[in-house]
Amino acid sequence: MRRPLVMGNWKLNGNKTMVAELIKGLEAELNGVEGVDVAIAPPVMYLDLAEQLLGKAESKIILGAQNVDVNLSGAFTGDISPDMLKDFGATHIIIGHSERREYHEESDEFVAKKFAFLKENGLVPVLCIGESDAQNEAGETVAVCARQLDAVINTQGVEALNGAVIAYEPIWAIGTGKAATADDAQRIHAAIRAHIAEKSEEVAKNVVIQYGGSVKPENAEAYFAQPDIDGALVGGAALIADSFAAIAKAAAKAKN
Ligand code: PGA
Repeated sequence: MRRPLVMGNWKLNGNKTMVAELIKGLEAELNGVEGVDVAIAPPVMYLDLAEQLLGKAESKIILGAQNVDVNLSGAFTGDISPDMLKDFGATHIIIGHSERREYHEESDEFVAKKFAFLKENGLVPVLCIGESDAQNEAGETVAVCARQLDAVINTQGVEALNGAVIAYEPIWAIGTGKAATADDAQRIHAAIRAHIAEKSEEVAKNVVIQYGGSVKPENAEAYFAQPDIDGALVGGAALIADSFAAIAKAAAKAKN
């Protein structure tokens, strides 16, 4: 049985007051909600505060981060290591988000390196994959996702996906309000799972595949009703406590 995971990607948003209020709101809204893992990835600057607040509330919310470097320490100005993330209780680390692939020119190979490094250091990679609008129009969606996944599978073996999370995020759906239909998303999720199953049915059966891209309380239920959609990576709606909690509750309801 795959346990659903709803994760909030806060991106470059927040300040101390907002972090405190959002976490307080989430604690209240998610009280008693079972059957779903809920994670938040604040900007790295606020991990310390988030860890303290979650600790005080004895929270079940999992702490995550939005990026990691491929070095543990040394002369790498501006970078953050897995050990530093661990030091603040972050476990689920987003890598390969399309915004990093695009604005920081992160290649499939570099993202795969981060994946390996996270695993080596006992953290959970949340590997984002997904196609652009043009690639979607050209019918290349599955091929693009397979290529991005293969960067990991071909270098680390399919078993590397055990315990990791995949987030399928069509780039044209991120922050645009133009979400993929639940049927289309299911079709791609099934294709991603089938691609993994070519190497290992066991790994394919167990790996959590989230959908991401304009997930809102209004459309969340339709995604989670799909057999291969195991949760969501949420951007905009994760900045509003009751919206994010409603998405987590929809996952708990649909998957249990
Ligand atoms: P969005 O972002 O929910 O605002 O579309 C999702 C993401 O980029 O992870």
